[in-house]
Amino acid sequence: MPVDETLAATIAGWDGEYVVSRYHADTGVWIFVAVHDTTLGPAAGGTRMKVYPTPADGLVDAMRLAEGMTYKWAGVGMDMGGGKAVLALSEPLDDARLEQLLARYGRVLESLYGSFRTGPDVGMGPDRMAQVARHTRWVVGAVDGDAPDPGMFTAHGVRAGIEAAAGVVLGASSLAGVRILVQGLGDVGAPLVDELAAAGAELIVADIDADLARKVAERVGATEVDPTAVYQTTCDVYAPSALGGSLNDDTIGQLRCRVVAGPANNQFATTGGAFALHTRGIVAVPDYIINAGGAYAVTRMSQGVRDGDVLMREVGGIGLRVAEILTEAATDGVPPLQAAQRRVDRLLADRGSPRYR
Ligand code: PHE
Repeated sequence: MPVDETLAATIAGWDGEYVVSRYHADTGVWIFVAVHDTTLGPAAGGTRMKVYPTPADGLVDAMRLAEGMTYKWAGVGMDMGGGKAVLALSEPLDDARLEQLLARYGRVLESLYGSFRTGPDVGMGPDRMAQVARHTRWVVGAVDGDAPDPGMFTAHGVRAGIEAAAGVVLGASSLAGVRILVQGLGDVGAPLVDELAAAGAELIVADIDADLARKVAERVGATEVDPTAVYQTTCDVYAPSALGGSLNDDTIGQLRCRVVAGPANNQFATTGGAFALHTRGIVAVPDYIINAGGAYAVTRMSQGVRDGDVLMREVGGIGLRVAEILTEAATDGVPPLQAAQRRVDRLLADRGSPRYR
């Protein structure tokens, strides 16, 4: 989606349902809640907080991420709609102003009466989410102002998905000795590395924060690679675990892996990328299938399922979904993203018309 200078044109060009916009004058921050599709239920998705070049860039991010959530909920069998919020900063905020912003954001969520429910995302970890939860009932899985951390659940689902992909594509019966490159060591990347290390994978790690990369590499005995060298590094599985868009015109031709499978949202910069990668013989596991574990688990928590072992077991089911999708894609000779998309489109068509658009 091209970024337009004007917010109005950006909204007019979207196929989602609606956007709630608030301008927080005290901090100069734009709050966008993008609701893409509520066929399956009320909209839910994470909140991303980040500095954007313009408010319209933040809005476009919210829209694309909201669309991803529509597919994520459908793919993981949850009766929720796709939505996402972005707090579009023009510059970093100090703690006092951040607190003001998060309080205001909580009140905005409260004013929507549950039409949009949220959880953590990039720039908005569990601690910040807990700050928001003091002002609203609509932080998914929060109890008494304490917000859950979905990171380890997302990581667990990704581990299961990587295992499944290694089975289907590489014929590997376990991750022992499988070379996996994890790019990004944040709230999901870090627990992912721990799970993969425990499963015996041979790990390569990268992060723009060099100290963090060194610390994690030492902890699990991984090899470190410079963030600029990620795409030229030979591995079996490349796991994008930072911001989206890492599969683009520059990188797709460089990759030296057989499988792409990781937690980042919106990994392909353009839809054509899925075909380009497929043509290169690289199997990409659809991001919204493999990374649904965290969103799934905290939603289950909000339904009263609080037993961590039960949640982990349920999230592990993502492995089976990945295997099914990869097998179907291989049989039909299409990119896995297309196979996943077909399933989701079928489900949405069966379940809902009209969409509230
Ligand atoms: N960042 C999570 C994701 O992309 C969003 C999320 C977390 C949504 C928790 C709901 C609850 O899946």
